Amino acid sequence: MCGIVGIVGNSPVAARLVDALRRLEYRGYDSAGVATVHEGRMDRRRAEGKLFNLEKKLDAEPLPGTIGIAHTRWATHGVPNETNAHPHFVDGVAVVHNGIIENFSELKDELLAEGAVFESQTDTEVVAHLLAKYTRQGLDHRAAMLATLNRVSGAYALVVMFEDDPGTIMAARFGPPLAIGHGRGEMFLGSDAIALSPFTNEITYLVDGDCAVMTHKGAEIIDYDGKPVKRQSQISQASAFMVDKGNHRHFMEKEIYEQPEIISHALSHYIDFATHTVKANDTAIDFGKVSGLAIAACGTAYLSGLIGKYWFERYARLPVEIDVASEFRYRELPLSPSQAALFISQSGETADTLASLRYCKDNGLKIGAVVNVKESTIARESDAIFPILAGPEIGVASTKAFTCQLAVLAALAIGAGRARGTVTAGDEKAMVKHLAEMPRIMSRVLNDIQPQIEALSRELSRFKDVLYLGRGTSFPLAMEGALKLKEISYIHAEGYAAGELKHGPIALIDEHMPVIVIAPHDRFFEKTVSNMQEVAARGGKIIFITDEKGAAASKLPTMATIALPNVDEIIAPMIFSLPIQLLAYHTAVFMGTDVDQPRNLAKSVTVE
Ligand code: AGP
Repeated sequence: MCGIVGIVGNSPVAARLVDALRRLEYRGYDSAGVATVHEGRMDRRRAEGKLFNLEKKLDAEPLPGTIGIAHTRWATHGVPNETNAHPHFVDGVAVVHNGIIENFSELKDELLAEGAVFESQTDTEVVAHLLAKYTRQGLDHRAAMLATLNRVSGAYALVVMFEDDPGTIMAARFGPPLAIGHGRGEMFLGSDAIALSPFTNEITYLVDGDCAVMTHKGAEIIDYDGKPVKRQSQISQASAFMVDKGNHRHFMEKEIYEQPEIISHALSHYIDFATHTVKANDTAIDFGKVSGLAIAACGTAYLSGLIGKYWFERYARLPVEIDVASEFRYRELPLSPSQAALFISQSGETADTLASLRYCKDNGLKIGAVVNVKESTIARESDAIFPILAGPEIGVASTKAFTCQLAVLAALAIGAGRARGTVTAGDEKAMVKHLAEMPRIMSRVLNDIQPQIEALSRELSRFKDVLYLGRGTSFPLAMEGALKLKEISYIHAEGYAAGELKHGPIALIDEHMPVIVIAPHDRFFEKTVSNMQEVAARGGKIIFITDEKGAAASKLPTMATIALPNVDEIIAPMIFSLPIQLLAYHTAVFMGTDVDQPRNLAKSVTVE
């Protein structure tokens, strides 16, 4: 959830460290800091809030030095203020950290008992104190680092610098990602390859239990016993372009509007647009042979998996066990090696999803990763990678990644049905044709509904609570709509199965809580209309998201009716994602919240 960078350079590093942090701001932005060593003196600048505040500080008080480390924070321990901002200093040692030191309180008690003086409330500071302690006891920096790594437990990526050794940066990884960048006479460290892309594309990813000792000449990688380990470097695909907003006000708006183009690109990896067939799945997962699927993911990725469950079960007749990864990993689910497991993750670094993957791997299942970052940890630990090809998603609220996940899952489910003989060649052709038409329909919808949604969002921003309802694949969509609204506008919202309304939530219905009903004219339509009648009968306000057929069929009074084109049910979830994304976006804009970096959130949750 934090971003960390280090440079052993041959020219001033402060500005380059900040530039790298800018590419990592999506990982957290509660505070930021930089430390360098120059002429034997270590110094730092730190600032609360966005990176801009740190830049202002550095403009006022520049930091010289050709070696440095930097950090952008998402607070886990300690309020997001300057005192708790990284880098943390103790007696000539500087540390930046991403993750959680789970045994920090017992270590802190031990250090306090030995007279250590702590300045922050963070878990990270215990690492700096341990390094200083072992250095004071006469250990050299490498031995002090290994001694420290053998004391701490938890999930961490650490980067360390010593005032009296301005030619070396040390690092360690156990959980959150860390990559080494190989420059010309310079060396780099970063949370991901995008951060390092302006400096180099030759990358070596550290693995859990690796410690790196980095100098101008290169990086030596050792284990926690000090034994050298070999790690392969690779040429990263991450490009140096700094994703910009184009002519949009926010990254989220840009990413909503680029979905037609992005989806078309993603689909081309999975379907043949000429023959309207699903391309052969030449990965390690043979859906024709597996006995069932397990799916684990978090947040929006979980909701795309939930929609995928409907498809795999209906079209491929594959039983699917799905759960949010934070529950999945602790259920001790009885699994069989005859099953396969899919892990859906935009970042490919979500800790709970990764832990669930490892649980399934330990149980002998074939592992598939539906990810946006092909070099991510989840991808690298999988047998099969199903890339969603959405391009960097900067907005913290996921939009294009969600619809790309759906497009990939739809193609995989149809392909699985073909492999299992439960989808005929004719059905495949028909469904793939609908997928192929989707980008064009998405473009039309995005143009047609914008003014109506913008006007409606102005009204919606007046309310404190909103209920979303849906049936079938519109039920997970109702939950996604609620998640989008609450995470960027901070309005409380819930997504519910429409059939559950009368089992409790109907008690909430009154004129103060709009009910957003997602209902294409499909086999559930009539039943959902009866739920709408139950709402209308109690004075509830309905926002009806349907299609032209549904709008013509229902005579119920609504606050607004958004009529989308009539589409086949295999693409309805992607098409109906658009109004719920735009509704959340415009409502948040009216609310004046930080749409791209909502409070308390981070794009990639690499801690439990
Ligand atoms: C999406 O709008 C949310 N910001 C969040 O729920 C996200 O989907 C979740 O954290 C999973 O992230 P991942 O896809 O990178 O694993």
